[in-house]
Amino acid sequence: MDAQRRDRISRLRWLYIDGYAGSGHHVSKARNELVEGSPLIALNTNPPFHEYHFIDADAEKAAELRKQAGPRSDVFIYSGDCNEILLSKVFPRADYGQYKRALCLLDPYNINLTWEVIEAAGNAKSIEIFVNFMIMDVNRNALRKNPDKVVKSKAEQMTRLWGDDSWLDAGYDQVTNLFQEDVPIKVSNERFAEAFRQRLIHRAGFKHVPKPMPMRTKTNAVIYYLYFASQKEAGMDIVNDIFNQYRMKQRLLKWQRQRSSGRMQHGTLSVAAPRSAQGANTVTPSDLRSASAEFRRILLNRVSTSGSSLRSWKNRCTSRSHNAFS
Ligand SMILES: C[S@@+](CC[C@H](N)C(=O)[O-])C[C@H]1O[C@@H](n2cnc3c(N)ncnc32)[C@H](O)[C@@H]1O
Repeated sequence: MDAQRRDRISRLRWLYIDGYAGSGHHVSKARNELVEGSPLIALNTNPPFHEYHFIDADAEKAAELRKQAGPRSDVFIYSGDCNEILLSKVFPRADYGQYKRALCLLDPYNINLTWEVIEAAGNAKSIEIFVNFMIMDVNRNALRKNPDKVVKSKAEQMTRLWGDDSWLDAGYDQVTNLFQEDVPIKVSNERFAEAFRQRLIHRAGFKHVPKPMPMRTKTNAVIYYLYFASQKEAGMDIVNDIFNQYRMKQRLLKWQRQRSSGRMQHGTLSVAAPRSAQGANTVTPSDLRSASAEFRRILLNRVSTSGSSLRSWKNRCTSRSHNAFS
């Protein structure tokens, strides 16, 4: 390794940013108990990040998180709207030229994230994001089958999230009916999610955005799509690996449910687990019942502490492929 590169690597600083941090814990509906939320998982990461930036609009949650984190000088907690704080106070700290690199989690309950935040992360070239795109909120309020039922304030929120009103073109096909009238027909979740992925690439300037992970309810409805967006392939490889393992577990779970509900009546006993799920650890329905909370945990644990860990992420970034962020 030449001296210049060694010097550059030793100067790299890693930031963890959580725009919708919560209080540090949340109640797992599946387990009916308090579980660690994304900030505490990130804080317990080894190797640690150099700085942690947590934002929550709810002042009480921000204060509770401060308590949970303790008096650490590497932890910065903000109470307010992350759409404003990320742009004014946090993203500027992830200065590419100063060898700062950031992993940013955007985990809202609804669609109140704004496009400016996503675009700023893409433009910074130093920030990778995980973002939850709350398709259930979109479907219920903004992108209705019957456009007359759209909630106006939610349609406006959708425009702020998408960056402009072209989500209407992406979300509806204009189809000519028997009376020669053009009627809007809503596209599938998958098509809409793919249109958003294309925006992350072509508008926000992220070079690598794998297909998002659909997170489902027990009844198989998609609550949100989890996107990862990065400038480098190495980060994407790791996330794809994690996504694929999760997909395998979802398939295995579906297969287990079908089997136990007797839907595989014919030859039930001889029906093999889907090939893609073989070899995955056995999971029970309760493991994945609360898909979103569980996945956040799996994802952050995996990204940060084990297996395809942050360490191997950093190693890949710093040694094998030059670095994922340079
Ligand atoms: C889904 S929860 C976050 C859960 C957290 N990531 C975890 O794993 O425990 C969303 C959080 O975002 C906060 N929130 C909602 N709107 C916000 C905004 N505009 N800016 C910052 N925080 C916001 C809510 O108070 C809530 O605590």
